[in-house]
Amino acid sequence: MAAHDPSKQGLLGSTSTEHHADYSSDSDANVNNTPEYPTRRQRQQRKRRTQLTNRTPSFQPLPTRKSWLARRSRCCLIFAAFGLILFVILLVGGGLGYKAVLQEPPYGLSPPWYPSPKGGIAGTWYESYQKAAKLVSKMTLAEKVNITTGVGWQMGLAVGTTAPAIHVGFPALQLQDGPLGIRNADNITAFPAGITVGATWNRQLMYARGKAHAIEARAKGVNAILGPCVGPLGRMPAGGRNWEGFGSDPYLQGIAGAETIKGIQSEGVMATVKHFIANEQEHFRQPWEWGLPNAISSNVDDRAMHELYAWPFGDAVKAGVASVMCSYNMVNNSYACGNSKLLNGILKDELGFQGFVMSDWLAQRAGVSTTLAGLDMTMPGDGLRWANGQSLWGKELSRAVLNGSVPVERMDDMATRVVAAWYQMGQDDEEKWPRDKGPNFSSWTREKMGVMSPGSPTEQEEVVVNQFVDVQANHSVIARQVAAEGTVLLKNEGAVLPLTREGVRKRQNTNTTSDKLKIGIFGEDAGPIPGGPNSCKDRGCNQGTLGSGWGSGAVEFPYLVTPIEALRKQFDSSKVELHEYLSNQFPASASEKAVVQDLDLCLVLVNADAGEGFTAWENVRGDRPDLFLQKNGDLLIQQVAAKCGGGFSDVVVVIHAVGPVVMERWVDLPQVKAVLFANLPGEESGNALVDVLFGHVNPSGHLPFTIGKSLQDYGPGGQVLYLPNGVVPQQDFTEGLYVDYRWFDKHDITPRFEFGFGLSYTSFELGNATVKTVRPKSALPFPRLDPLVEPPTYPTDIPPVEDVLWPKEGIRKLEKYIYPYLSADEAHSAVSARQDGKKYPYPDGYDTPQPLSQAGGDEGGNPDLWQVKAKVTVDVRNTGKVAGAVVPQLYLSYPESGSAVSNQTLDFPVRVLRGFDKVYLEPGESRQVEFNLTRRDLSYWDVGVQNWVMVMEGQYTFHVGLSSRDLPVDVRW
Ligand code: BGC
Repeated sequence: MAAHDPSKQGLLGSTSTEHHADYSSDSDANVNNTPEYPTRRQRQQRKRRTQLTNRTPSFQPLPTRKSWLARRSRCCLIFAAFGLILFVILLVGGGLGYKAVLQEPPYGLSPPWYPSPKGGIAGTWYESYQKAAKLVSKMTLAEKVNITTGVGWQMGLAVGTTAPAIHVGFPALQLQDGPLGIRNADNITAFPAGITVGATWNRQLMYARGKAHAIEARAKGVNAILGPCVGPLGRMPAGGRNWEGFGSDPYLQGIAGAETIKGIQSEGVMATVKHFIANEQEHFRQPWEWGLPNAISSNVDDRAMHELYAWPFGDAVKAGVASVMCSYNMVNNSYACGNSKLLNGILKDELGFQGFVMSDWLAQRAGVSTTLAGLDMTMPGDGLRWANGQSLWGKELSRAVLNGSVPVERMDDMATRVVAAWYQMGQDDEEKWPRDKGPNFSSWTREKMGVMSPGSPTEQEEVVVNQFVDVQANHSVIARQVAAEGTVLLKNEGAVLPLTREGVRKRQNTNTTSDKLKIGIFGEDAGPIPGGPNSCKDRGCNQGTLGSGWGSGAVEFPYLVTPIEALRKQFDSSKVELHEYLSNQFPASASEKAVVQDLDLCLVLVNADAGEGFTAWENVRGDRPDLFLQKNGDLLIQQVAAKCGGGFSDVVVVIHAVGPVVMERWVDLPQVKAVLFANLPGEESGNALVDVLFGHVNPSGHLPFTIGKSLQDYGPGGQVLYLPNGVVPQQDFTEGLYVDYRWFDKHDITPRFEFGFGLSYTSFELGNATVKTVRPKSALPFPRLDPLVEPPTYPTDIPPVEDVLWPKEGIRKLEKYIYPYLSADEAHSAVSARQDGKKYPYPDGYDTPQPLSQAGGDEGGNPDLWQVKAKVTVDVRNTGKVAGAVVPQLYLSYPESGSAVSNQTLDFPVRVLRGFDKVYLEPGESRQVEFNLTRRDLSYWDVGVQNWVMVMEGQYTFHVGLSSRDLPVDVRW
């Protein structure tokens, strides 16, 4: 049964429907809001018309003048009849095919959730809402529209810009990608990617990187960073953008996301957590990009939605995130940015989100209905197609308020949420945030001079757009630390690592005659990128060493320390002879072969790249087609292993990659002694690598995903849908909770390296586990309390038309730029439509207010969910000879005998991550590590009672260890 089948129990899409097409109640608005692709009805009408016009003409009797003519006509007849039969077959077959496969599923199988909850119910935002209310109450309708609608693609210097509310002193907001640094800018830090941060398992570093990123953003004039990214979660290991996030587990994503947000917002910059939600693959992520008129629908059941995909967003909201970006895809056949269950229900009511929901770039697919569904800001402002200037909001939003389609209260809430977020960050402080300065760089040119709105064909004066402000400070130190701590040591047989400046501690190749140790460095990934690190736009190719994936999540590298540069410096040239083969072609000449034959040690650097779906490199169209190393990396390793020192010397493999890599072709080769998984290290790549290779930093990275023995081992849910299976491609998340290690554990599949795995140059011992009840168990959290504070209220009268009329002077109209204004005729006809009683066709369920969620009530949800229930302690000791950091991880197994409070069959993953820490220990030193388990950590999402529930019968088991499968101690509760 397809997961979008309404009868399926527990699906988000299990009741009635939401509207797709968007109408305003006056006709002009209708024209502008009609999607550019035909509706099903239009298609059927067109098909009927085509059938009529294509009807085969009837044939007249033929003249008998010449027999060849008669023969020809007979021949024609047979031909025509044959053609007719073929046509009918195709028609019938096509029709059946259409019915069977290509017919669109009914739009909006996600249940309705209205009305949109107002912001301003959390004590933590009280003052900001008070201040916002004062400001918003003075705004005209046009100003409210201005601050909620982007001005259009490339109409400002940042990737997203809103217009100001000038007369109340509210500035244009500048929004800039992305999760690993300031995109499209000069003199910034190219930090390691999210996946590398996840691999550090170091909360302090997560925070520090976020903070440094925000310091740079503010100095560049950016109000909001479009990051961190906690979705995709990594359901599919080949997913193109997994590397922007922190790893394939909701708990890890949640902690890393929240720490990053706290770091960013400690500097007064807004963080935008993205992409909400279930945007797990690039193929078909948005309409038209993949040749289809619709985006893919991720069909997710209610429990998996809560326990996996929405979980990290819950942490983000609890951390006070200012903004949430809704994603391109549909969820349960309703676009995420117009899905009222997701935005109004889960995000704003249940999670108590107080900031504003921003659309991904063109993820808004309808006008009024998205407003009602909880969208607060549209980006970049354009409508259904890139850069067309035909916003679904802008003047259409002004019109929809005037004609009564969008309730005034909703419009006020949208504006208030944006302004409250601005106050919450302290951006009203003019010293830190000089008004109307804007970004001091342009996302669209590297020249000093340029125009302010390059997206407009209107001629404009050139001004200084790039001031080349250097904002890097000493952030390279953090970048290097993250890259080093995010490098995972997977194999180290015979303690071949760490290397020494002289090469190795003990020489393997005793046949050699040379005094110097000969080391070979192999692979393109060790060397520079031809044309420089930024030679491909948005880093959309795999050349030279791999520092980041591609797409909007990438930045312009200010520099990129390649591994080879750092290695050259590190080895003592009086003792070591380096031989460099910076290509993936194994050396072929006789002289080269002779040198290789004589090498004492070989390092091979290989990689695998991916990125955002708007760019393809070779056969990597965003998502990877498989999990193998790229550019024949496997073969290169095999060749080096066979030939290095005649097949007798040690080989060290270093991998830079966007995600898991299948290593089965070489990992067990006897020569391959060490494997380092360096993820995506950013600008300090080479330096961080030598830190680990030479033991200046004892490796402490752990895998933020499972490395399986094959892509198939990740199960059916782990496979990207590469070919569309319908007009609206359907992807059913039927594996539910069983993603990554949860799948491997459930099906007892042995991975090559499990989630959480990582070696060190020292050894650790764990013991002495204890558990203490902090608060007694109880199945359900406290009932939802009334909010401590109330959202602001405003008069609900429809504003006067004068609010949105084109100003008489002081405005220079730019073509394609998005303005909030209407002509007098347009404004008056909107008012008449309302007076004539024309009604917007509100979605089904719009008039039935939903019961508030018992899981909600405050920022981050019901506060009781965050109360610590149990405390686990464990002693950790460094039993080796060198100092190093250890990452104790806590995994929880739910009581086996547990039964659900509602009538549902309970099934729990074997183990789920619910705690981790990172501690640095000198040799012989031991420390006690503490894990605090909250009610949410100990609960499952009960679809029946629609709440987080603790299992009351039986005992919980807390396992503590150094990976998801190395869990030497446990304690029961
Ligand atoms: C991406 C977002 C990004 C936005 C702006 C979109 O294509 O999905 O992650 O923030 O563009 O660049």
